[in-house]
Amino acid sequence: MLITIVESPLDAILKLRHELLRPDRKPEELVSQADISDMAIHLIATINGQTAGMLSAGPEPCPFNPCDNSWRLRGLAVIESARRRGVATALLKSVIARSHAKGARALWGLTRMAAVATHIRLGFETIGEPYEIPPTGPHCSTFVRLTDALVSLLSHPQRPRNVVGRHCV
Ligand SMILES: CC(C)(COP(=O)(O)OP(=O)(O)OC[C@H]1O[C@@H](n2cnc3c(N)ncnc32)[C@H](O)[C@@H]1OP(=O)(O)O)[C@@H](O)C(=O)NCCC(=O)NCCS
Repeated sequence: MLITIVESPLDAILKLRHELLRPDRKPEELVSQADISDMAIHLIATINGQTAGMLSAGPEPCPFNPCDNSWRLRGLAVIESARRRGVATALLKSVIARSHAKGARALWGLTRMAAVATHIRLGFETIGEPYEIPPTGPHCSTFVRLTDALVSLLSHPQRPRNVVGRHCV
Protein backbone atom coordinates (compact mmCIF):
# COMPACT_ATOMS: atom_id res chain seq x y z
CA MET A 1 0.00 0.00 0.00
CA LEU A 2 1.46 3.33 -1.08
CA ILE A 3 0.25 6.56 0.55
CA THR A 4 1.14 9.56 -1.61
CA ILE A 5 0.67 13.18 -0.52
CA VAL A 6 0.22 15.84 -3.21
CA GLU A 7 -0.63 19.54 -3.15
CA SER A 8 -4.09 20.43 -4.39
CA PRO A 9 -6.03 23.53 -5.48
CA LEU A 10 -8.30 24.96 -2.78
CA ASP A 11 -11.44 24.28 -4.88
CA ALA A 12 -10.86 20.52 -4.83
CA ILE A 13 -10.16 20.61 -1.10
CA LEU A 14 -13.37 22.52 -0.34
CA LYS A 15 -15.41 20.00 -2.35
CA LEU A 16 -13.89 17.13 -0.31
CA ARG A 17 -14.29 19.08 2.94
CA HIS A 18 -17.98 19.47 2.16
CA GLU A 19 -18.39 15.77 1.25
CA LEU A 20 -16.39 14.27 4.13
CA LEU A 21 -16.80 16.75 6.99
CA ARG A 22 -19.62 19.25 6.53
CA PRO A 23 -22.34 18.02 4.10
CA ASP A 24 -24.65 20.51 5.86
CA ARG A 25 -22.62 23.46 4.51
CA LYS A 26 -21.79 24.55 0.96
CA PRO A 27 -18.11 24.23 -0.03
CA GLU A 28 -17.70 28.02 -0.34
CA GLU A 29 -18.96 28.44 3.24
CA LEU A 30 -16.10 26.32 4.58
CA VAL A 31 -13.25 28.75 3.89
CA SER A 32 -11.21 30.24 6.76
CA GLN A 33 -8.45 32.84 6.96
CA ALA A 34 -5.82 30.09 6.95
CA ASP A 35 -7.15 28.61 3.69
CA ILE A 36 -6.83 31.73 1.57
CA SER A 37 -3.34 32.84 2.55
CA ASP A 38 -0.75 32.79 -0.27
CA MET A 39 1.30 30.61 2.08
CA ALA A 40 -1.47 28.04 2.66
CA ILE A 41 -0.80 24.35 2.08
CA HIS A 42 -3.62 22.16 0.75
CA LEU A 43 -2.83 18.44 0.64
CA ILE A 44 -4.60 15.40 -0.73
CA ALA A 45 -3.52 11.87 0.20
CA THR A 46 -3.96 9.05 -2.28
CA ILE A 47 -3.63 5.29 -1.89
CA ASN A 48 -2.64 3.58 -5.12
CA GLY A 49 -3.83 6.66 -6.99
CA GLN A 50 -7.27 6.91 -5.31
CA THR A 51 -8.16 9.91 -3.15
CA ALA A 52 -8.02 8.86 0.51
CA GLY A 53 -8.02 12.08 2.56
CA MET A 54 -7.10 15.71 2.84
CA LEU A 55 -5.66 18.33 5.18
CA SER A 56 -4.89 22.05 4.92
CA ALA A 57 -2.93 24.57 6.96
CA GLY A 58 -2.15 28.26 6.75
CA PRO A 59 -1.19 31.29 8.82
CA GLU A 60 -3.87 32.29 11.34
CA PRO A 61 -3.35 33.58 14.92
CA CYS A 62 -4.05 30.98 17.60
CA PRO A 63 -6.97 32.18 19.77
CA PHE A 64 -6.16 30.01 22.80
CA ASN A 65 -2.33 30.04 22.86
CA PRO A 66 -1.09 33.17 21.07
CA CYS A 67 2.43 33.04 19.62
CA ASP A 68 4.32 34.30 16.57
CA ASN A 69 4.02 32.52 13.22
CA SER A 70 1.22 30.18 14.22
CA TRP A 71 -0.66 28.27 11.54
CA ARG A 72 -4.11 26.71 11.73
CA LEU A 73 -4.89 23.15 10.67
CA ARG A 74 -8.08 22.82 8.63
CA GLY A 75 -10.21 19.99 7.37
CA LEU A 76 -8.46 16.73 8.27
CA ALA A 77 -10.52 13.81 6.99
CA VAL A 78 -9.95 10.33 5.60
CA ILE A 79 -12.55 8.41 3.61
CA GLU A 80 -14.07 5.60 5.64
CA SER A 81 -12.61 2.71 3.64
CA ALA A 82 -9.06 4.11 4.00
CA ARG A 83 -9.06 4.68 7.76
CA ARG A 84 -6.66 3.07 10.28
CA ARG A 85 -3.90 2.72 7.72
CA GLY A 86 -1.88 5.78 8.68
CA VAL A 87 -3.33 8.27 6.17
CA ALA A 88 -4.11 10.99 8.74
CA THR A 89 -0.71 10.44 10.34
CA ALA A 90 0.99 10.85 6.95
CA LEU A 91 -1.00 14.03 6.21
CA LEU A 92 -0.15 15.56 9.59
CA LYS A 93 3.54 14.68 9.27
CA SER A 94 3.61 16.23 5.82
CA VAL A 95 1.89 19.43 6.98
CA ILE A 96 4.27 19.70 9.95
CA ALA A 97 7.33 19.44 7.67
CA ARG A 98 5.96 21.69 4.91
CA SER A 99 4.62 24.43 7.20
CA HIS A 100 7.83 24.47 9.25
CA ALA A 101 9.80 24.89 6.00
CA LYS A 102 7.60 27.91 5.18
CA GLY A 103 8.26 29.58 8.54
CA ALA A 104 5.44 28.28 10.74
CA ARG A 105 6.57 27.92 14.35
CA ALA A 106 3.36 26.47 15.82
CA LEU A 107 0.31 24.60 14.56
CA TRP A 108 -3.11 24.68 16.19
CA GLY A 109 -6.55 23.31 15.52
CA LEU A 110 -10.06 22.82 16.80
CA THR A 111 -9.82 19.06 16.63
CA ARG A 112 -12.63 16.53 16.60
CA MET A 113 -12.19 13.96 19.37
CA ALA A 114 -11.75 11.17 16.80
CA ALA A 115 -8.48 12.76 15.69
CA VAL A 116 -7.03 13.86 19.02
CA ALA A 117 -5.01 10.68 19.73
CA THR A 118 -3.37 10.88 16.30
CA HIS A 119 -2.38 14.51 16.98
CA ILE A 120 -0.94 13.63 20.40
CA ARG A 121 1.18 10.83 18.96
CA LEU A 122 2.82 13.44 16.71
CA GLY A 123 3.68 15.84 19.53
CA PHE A 124 0.54 17.96 19.89
CA GLU A 125 -0.92 18.75 23.29
CA THR A 126 -4.51 19.51 24.15
CA ILE A 127 -5.29 22.90 25.67
CA GLY A 128 -8.20 23.23 28.09
CA GLU A 129 -11.33 21.15 28.34
CA PRO A 130 -13.28 19.46 25.52
CA TYR A 131 -16.23 21.42 24.11
CA GLU A 132 -19.07 20.96 21.65
CA ILE A 133 -19.17 22.51 18.18
CA PRO A 134 -22.69 21.81 16.88
CA PRO A 135 -23.52 19.92 14.76
CA THR A 136 -20.18 18.10 14.54
CA GLY A 137 -19.80 17.15 18.21
CA PRO A 138 -17.02 17.19 20.81
CA HIS A 139 -13.69 18.88 20.05
CA CYS A 140 -10.41 19.69 21.79
CA SER A 141 -8.10 22.61 21.10
CA THR A 142 -4.75 21.17 20.01
CA PHE A 143 -1.37 22.89 19.71
CA VAL A 144 2.23 22.04 18.90
CA ARG A 145 5.39 24.15 18.69
CA LEU A 146 7.29 23.34 15.51
CA THR A 147 10.92 22.85 16.44
CA ASP A 148 13.79 21.54 14.32
CA ALA A 149 13.99 18.61 16.75
CA LEU A 150 10.32 17.64 16.27
CA VAL A 151 10.51 17.91 12.48
CA SER A 152 13.67 15.81 12.45
CA LEU A 153 12.14 13.19 14.78
CA LEU A 154 8.99 12.86 12.66
CA SER A 155 10.98 12.55 9.44
CA HIS A 156 12.29 9.16 10.57
CA PRO A 157 10.22 6.14 9.50
CA GLN A 158 10.14 4.66 13.00
CA ARG A 159 9.66 6.90 15.98
CA PRO A 160 8.59 6.38 19.58
CA ARG A 161 4.88 6.80 20.31
CA ASN A 162 3.68 9.67 22.50
CA VAL A 163 6.50 12.15 21.84
CA VAL A 164 4.91 14.71 24.13
CA GLY A 165 1.44 15.86 24.95
CA ARG A 166 -1.54 15.04 27.07
CA HIS A 167 -5.20 14.26 26.56
CA CYS A 168 -8.16 16.39 27.51
CA VAL A 169 -9.47 15.18 30.82
C1 LIG B 1 -9.92 10.95 12.53
C2 LIG B 1 -9.43 10.47 11.16
C3 LIG B 1 -8.94 11.69 10.35
C4 LIG B 1 -8.26 9.50 11.38
O1 LIG B 1 -7.75 9.10 10.09
P1 LIG B 1 -6.92 7.73 9.90
O2 LIG B 1 -6.27 7.81 8.57
O3 LIG B 1 -7.77 6.58 10.21
O4 LIG B 1 -5.81 7.92 11.06
P2 LIG B 1 -4.51 6.99 11.26
O5 LIG B 1 -4.65 5.75 10.44
O6 LIG B 1 -3.30 7.81 11.06
O7 LIG B 1 -4.64 6.66 12.80
C5 LIG B 1 -5.87 6.11 13.32
C6 LIG B 1 -5.61 4.82 14.09
O8 LIG B 1 -5.16 3.80 13.21
C7 LIG B 1 -3.97 3.25 13.73
N1 LIG B 1 -3.15 2.85 12.57
C8 LIG B 1 -2.39 3.66 11.80
N2 LIG B 1 -1.78 2.93 10.83
C9 LIG B 1 -2.19 1.65 11.02
C10 LIG B 1 -1.92 0.46 10.34
N3 LIG B 1 -1.11 0.42 9.29
N4 LIG B 1 -2.52 -0.66 10.79
C11 LIG B 1 -3.35 -0.63 11.85
N5 LIG B 1 -3.66 0.49 12.54
C12 LIG B 1 -3.07 1.61 12.13
C13 LIG B 1 -3.35 4.36 14.52
O9 LIG B 1 -2.42 3.88 15.48
C14 LIG B 1 -4.56 4.96 15.17
O10 LIG B 1 -4.96 4.17 16.27
P3 LIG B 1 -5.88 4.70 17.51
O11 LIG B 1 -7.26 4.93 16.93
O12 LIG B 1 -5.84 3.61 18.48
O13 LIG B 1 -5.28 5.99 17.98
C15 LIG B 1 -10.55 9.72 10.40
O14 LIG B 1 -11.08 8.71 11.22
C16 LIG B 1 -11.69 10.64 9.93
O15 LIG B 1 -11.62 11.24 8.86
N6 LIG B 1 -12.75 10.72 10.77
C17 LIG B 1 -13.94 11.53 10.44
C18 LIG B 1 -13.63 13.02 10.30
C19 LIG B 1 -12.84 13.56 11.47
O16 LIG B 1 -13.14 13.30 12.61
N7 LIG B 1 -11.81 14.39 11.13
C20 LIG B 1 -10.97 15.05 12.12
C21 LIG B 1 -11.26 16.51 12.07
S1 LIG B 1 -10.22 17.40 13.22
